[in-house]
Amino acid sequence: MFAIPLGDDAVLRPLEPWQAEEFAADLDRAREHIAPWVGPSFVATGVAGAREVLQRYADKQAKDDARIYGIWRDGVLVGGTLFVSVNAAAGVCEVGCWLEPAAEGRGLITRAVSHMIDWAVEVRGITRVEWVTKSANTRSRNVAKRLGMSLDGVLRQSVPADANGVRADQEVWSVLADEWRSR
Ligand SMILES: CC(C)(COP(=O)(O)OP(=O)(O)OC[C@H]1O[C@@H](n2cnc3c(N)ncnc32)[C@H](O)[C@@H]1OP(=O)(O)O)[C@@H](O)C(=O)NCCC(=O)NCCS
Repeated sequence: MFAIPLGDDAVLRPLEPWQAEEFAADLDRAREHIAPWVGPSFVATGVAGAREVLQRYADKQAKDDARIYGIWRDGVLVGGTLFVSVNAAAGVCEVGCWLEPAAEGRGLITRAVSHMIDWAVEVRGITRVEWVTKSANTRSRNVAKRLGMSLDGVLRQSVPADANGVRADQEVWSVLADEWRSR
């Protein structure tokens, strides 16, 4: 119902539990591509699993915490963006994202997250917007850079071991409200 045009025949809209079927299909198309980089609980299987993920975000949004949005291109859900967390009292939030491979390389995430940061800073009075990514995730790091974020630091080996027993480093990037306004 409420959609923000992103150009390139794409829109950003809330993604809600009733859209679980579309989300499940999107996850099926994106699974292999995003699984190395996002939390395992996000990459649900089947419509019931997808609905659980969306319900989790709906419940959190009702508590003024996390939120999830979808990006539709030519009417098909191809990815989305998240407030992984919102702590309005502390003035801090974290944003995240995913895309199907076919939707990469068009600037959709950079534009969608820019709208979210505008809202966080100008409407919600957030002071610090964070972006957390594995250090090896070059495309994600590039989004943070494109948004004018600064690298705060590296959380060395903070990701639990994968199937090969290898732990991963994570980076914390952020942009502050003043920096966002003067970019
Ligand atoms: C991270 C991820 C969402 C980034 O997708 P992306 O398409 O690279 O990011 P954007 O949508 O912002 O697009 C930027 C790309 O579009 C290009 N582009 C084209 N038009 C553009 C425009 N108007 N504005 C900005 N970029 C534009 C950029 O040059 C860039 O391409 P390049 O990296 O090949 O130079 C995607 O790689 C992904 O889903 N990865 C797996 C899941 C994941 O890592 N999630 C994040 C966990 S922290």
